[in-house]
Amino acid sequence: VTKLCVLISGNGSNLQAIIDEISAGRLDAVVSGVISNRPNAYGLERAKSAGINAVCLDHTQFEDRESYDSALKEQINTFGADCVVLAGFMRILTPEFVDEFAGKLVNIHPSLLPKYKGLHTHQRAIDNGDTEHGVSVHFVTPELDGGPVIIQSRVPVFEGDSADDLAERVQEQERRIYPLVLRWFSAGRLSMRDNKAILDEQELPETGYA
Ligand code: GAR
Repeated sequence: VTKLCVLISGNGSNLQAIIDEISAGRLDAVVSGVISNRPNAYGLERAKSAGINAVCLDHTQFEDRESYDSALKEQINTFGADCVVLAGFMRILTPEFVDEFAGKLVNIHPSLLPKYKGLHTHQRAIDNGDTEHGVSVHFVTPELDGGPVIIQSRVPVFEGDSADDLAERVQEQERRIYPLVLRWFSAGRLSMRDNKAILDEQELPETGYA
């Protein structure tokens, strides 16, 4: 059965969605472990409540990015992972780490990539007067938030929306599409080849599955 190692920094609502899908029998996988870079991440509690091994690798306790990422890699390998799932993990990863897990490292990013890479995506969409916003799941490559998109989900932006309103609307979609992607991955239907996302032997378009 497919082992998912989930990396978090905070609330862990995506982690929860994955846990729930597995318990409901809709995702044939196990969460082999959860790693947070922040000691107080609520997602750690969610993992423990579900009986999942959860550890904190506090980035403030490491000299540099290289030493952190090598500890991270070690912990992932200890848990065992067919897929490393970044679920609100708010750290930039070294190219060495990314290359190590190439093709089995996925991320969820709260924008319609390639728009709004990086932080504060909801506020930026509002500030730009966008009428549409959304979320992307993508394979991770060394280019920050630049790896091939697997799927996107769109939401409307309403007049008067705050960043929190929009985040909530986006996160509702996140809970839907991340488990779907992991279902594809676990079924062996999803891979990355030549910097493209491949589903059922078909290259997905730039905006992912439609
Ligand atoms: C999610 O909205 C995710 O898209 C975003 O952080 C949130 C984590 O929520 N990720 C990023 O911004 C990555 N740069 P969660 O902890 O409740 O899953």
